[in-house]
Amino acid sequence: MAYRALSERVFEVGAIDWNRRSFDELVPLHEGTSYNAYIVKGNDKIALIDTVDPKMTAVLISNLKELGIERIDYLISNHAEQDHSGSIPSILSKYPMAKVVTNQKCKSMLMDLLLIPQEKFIVINDGESLSLGDRTLKFILFPWVHWPETMLTYLEEENILFSCDLFGSHVANSKLFATKDDEITVYEGAYRYFAEIMYPFRDNIRNNFSKVESLNLRYIAPSHGPVYENPSFIIGCYKKWISPNVANKVVIVYNSMHGSTEKMVEFLTSELTKRSITVIPFHLSVTDVGKMAMEVADAATIVVATPQVLGGMHPTVAYAVYFYNLLRPKTKFVSIIGSYGWGGKMVEQIQSMLYNLNAEILSPVVIKGYPKEEDFKALSELAEKIEISHRKIGIL
Ligand code: FEO
Repeated sequence: MAYRALSERVFEVGAIDWNRRSFDELVPLHEGTSYNAYIVKGNDKIALIDTVDPKMTAVLISNLKELGIERIDYLISNHAEQDHSGSIPSILSKYPMAKVVTNQKCKSMLMDLLLIPQEKFIVINDGESLSLGDRTLKFILFPWVHWPETMLTYLEEENILFSCDLFGSHVANSKLFATKDDEITVYEGAYRYFAEIMYPFRDNIRNNFSKVESLNLRYIAPSHGPVYENPSFIIGCYKKWISPNVANKVVIVYNSMHGSTEKMVEFLTSELTKRSITVIPFHLSVTDVGKMAMEVADAATIVVATPQVLGGMHPTVAYAVYFYNLLRPKTKFVSIIGSYGWGGKMVEQIQSMLYNLNAEILSPVVIKGYPKEEDFKALSELAEKIEISHRKIGIL
């Protein structure tokens, strides 16, 4: 991979991981990803902003060589997670004069995670600047996107914000800039990334968002995916995504062994659709957690649908319920439907696992065997309750 120029003094020197298909052994990556790292050349000092995943160190080193970087004065670390920090030890070994510039919390994490010695660090505080001569880097602490130590770096003379994970997308593309023409395709990748990684921290992002909005921005250069040539596009997206508003939407996560629960889901989907409510049913044997995260992010209602297995919910449903509880969605209403053969504790189990949600429980519909006339009636009533609830909060 070659280095790519943002301007005469700023270069992307990281790596594209075309074939990576999973992150954190959890999140599927359909389009690979990139680990962007940036060189900023001042007329006095040279800074490298972030590094790459350790398995791609050779690409970073090769790009630095090709760009003719013989000296790095400052290695800025915006985030201690290893996909951006993992090559710091190799860079320090190749450029022994370089100092790692970061905040106190990130320093402590880098010492723990990568065994970088104390004397290698320069610690900065929120709002502090670092001169490279005719270029200046300003550091903006922006905690909890999605770790506690995260910060952003702003290149004042060129109005470029190096935002690390914030505004990122898991997209592998040799094209550096996302232009206006790319925005439709970039939206999907950026939203998927937000829903999977940033969504549980949306309140922290909202509380700090004015720090980004107050900047004069020419480019936003994250550490995954393309550089935004039109920063207002991704800022506008984030303002919508971090808002507390929910949509007139029901997400149904379900599985079914012999068709009873699936029949209930089909019927409820149809009843909700008739009431002008958007419904997204996820059959848990064929969906991926990224899609589930994206759709639940603004859903007003979640319906969990499960057959009973050995006295409890289906294990794939337990996975989805556990995952949704971790994401802490802003969902306002939850219901549970399903079918059993001979008693069980599905409803109690599911309710107890959703303790992070601040949602009203709408009467569950749990039936014996295949749905009958009275069961369909109960499902119609549930659809009506969901409709009334959506009307009550002004989204229908
Ligand atoms: Fe891309 Fe939090 O690392």
